[in-house]
Amino acid sequence: LNNGLALTPQMGWNSWNFFACNITEDLIRETADALISTGLADLGYVYVNIDDCWSATSRNSEGQLVPDPNAFPSGIKALADYVHRKGLKLGIYSDAGAFTCQVRPGSLFHEIDDSQLFASWGVDYLKYDNCFNLGIDPKKRYPPMRDALNATGRTIFYSLCEWGVEDPALWARGVGNSWRTTDDINDTWASMTTIADLNNKWASYAGPGGWNDPDMLEVGNGGMTYPEYRAHFSIWALMKAPLLVGCDVRNMTAETFEILSNMEVIAVNQGLGRSFVWKSLGSCFLESVFNSCNYYSKLGGPWS
Ligand code: DGJ
Repeated sequence: LNNGLALTPQMGWNSWNFFACNITEDLIRETADALISTGLADLGYVYVNIDDCWSATSRNSEGQLVPDPNAFPSGIKALADYVHRKGLKLGIYSDAGAFTCQVRPGSLFHEIDDSQLFASWGVDYLKYDNCFNLGIDPKKRYPPMRDALNATGRTIFYSLCEWGVEDPALWARGVGNSWRTTDDINDTWASMTTIADLNNKWASYAGPGGWNDPDMLEVGNGGMTYPEYRAHFSIWALMKAPLLVGCDVRNMTAETFEILSNMEVIAVNQGLGRSFVWKSLGSCFLESVFNSCNYYSKLGGPWS
């Protein structure tokens, strides 16, 4: 999607893989604090993304989405302000269907209202899921939210979570900034390697503006060994996958931190397009880690 974002795969954290529906505003604030205090934010992990279950089970009398009053009593705008003060960005979640996967209200046919609400809160990123989709073609359900987000005037990263059902690599480059290519990952070697193989076939469709998304990282969640997690992180880096940490960054082991903070691996992911990865280890190395490398423009794009 040509909205100026996703020049490199997105980096940050997402609540789902470890916390599922056990999320609160304290968790989100503490996660933002931990991204800063550990140094992960300086390495590029800037999106703090709230997944499913942030919303109450029904809309208010005006038809607006409302944050779950128990988990998010201060509201999403207060959280966005908090993470922005720290130089981070806030992500939210909704669904291109009648309900989210955890049966909160979905945004299908509410695209304009919901995108305006997200923009008014200062949201920087929308992950848009695929549950309860009424059997409507994703090629029809995903573009209206793109257009609605664009019309808000706020620049919002648009992450399509269509699970690879209709081969989104083939059509989503003009719709979103990334598109899931597979079903959900789980914290096992078998799942991780299966997903890597499925994602790999779409490599040629990835590039600045839009990336294949083989789902979020499981590094640090306990189901794989240290070498397996190193392989997981390295494979995601090589595949130019989003690097969205899925563990509890407030309580990482030294090994987990070592994997997630490996600058050379991050540079492979963030530095350059497929063919030029190793040139990033020259003068462009540090800039590329910090997302400001302009190698793409110098080389005329990663496809050349
Ligand atoms: C399905 C998605 O693929 C997951 O990443 C997560 O967002 C869940 N839905 C939440 O219900």
